[in-house]
Amino acid sequence: MMRTAIIGGSGVYDLNILVDPKERVIDTEYGAAKVKIGLYEDMEIVFLSRHGEGHTLPPHKINYRANIAALKNLGVERIIGTTAVGSINADFKPGDFVLLDQFIDFTKNRIHTFYDGAAVHVDMTNPYCPEIRKSVIDAAKALKIDLHEKGMYVCTEGPRFETGAEIQMFALLGGDVVGMTNIPECVLAREVEICYSAIALVTNQAAGISGGELSHSQMIDEMKSKQEGVKALIMNAATLIPGGRKCLCKDALRGAHIGELLTK
Ligand code: HPA
Repeated sequence: MMRTAIIGGSGVYDLNILVDPKERVIDTEYGAAKVKIGLYEDMEIVFLSRHGEGHTLPPHKINYRANIAALKNLGVERIIGTTAVGSINADFKPGDFVLLDQFIDFTKNRIHTFYDGAAVHVDMTNPYCPEIRKSVIDAAKALKIDLHEKGMYVCTEGPRFETGAEIQMFALLGGDVVGMTNIPECVLAREVEICYSAIALVTNQAAGISGGELSHSQMIDEMKSKQEGVKALIMNAATLIPGGRKCLCKDALRGAHIGELLTK
């Protein structure tokens, strides 16, 4: 059975709509990852809480490789992630949902690849899976949930928030939203040919935009108030994803391995 996984970000620590959920710890060569596997409308869904139960892991301490490797080991082919973001673009307000379509990576100290012993360069022209994106757009329409269908995500290292000057720079680059966790999660999924898409929830205006100070508790409150909407959107999208994959993500490693290309 093809498996879809949900990676829950800030405010989404449990799916609590899965039937008969079973907790499992999956050991990988990068470390262990805890997941819950259950049924939703006859689909097997794997749920992974990115920050751990009780939000104990900050963005720079998340074991992104263990998480994605565990999902790969479980036979997951599609991942939908949720992620809290600050808005840079004035059209994006707190409480809005944004379906990411591009990213710019400003992280500094993370392990970004599974391939340390080989030159593997995956294509990231379109980092988010078009098939899952379409399902999320269709789900939002069906549920009458307002959704920004595109958004450029800027990923920062954290855990501090950005300076006002950094946010101004990101605005000049065309960034719409800023967060700390989508990279390398999205990249690692592509590296193992898992389709990946992320729904961002705007929890605040980014630093310097509203003039006030940023507070994490305000963000968590915003996320909590929207968590049922996020879950409905994800689960509905999961049911709309077509059976067989026709996107390029599933063949991301074809032609990406330089060593193999040279010896062919
Ligand atoms: N900056 C970085 N990460 C975030 C923000 C922000 O303003 N809001 C939610 N996650």
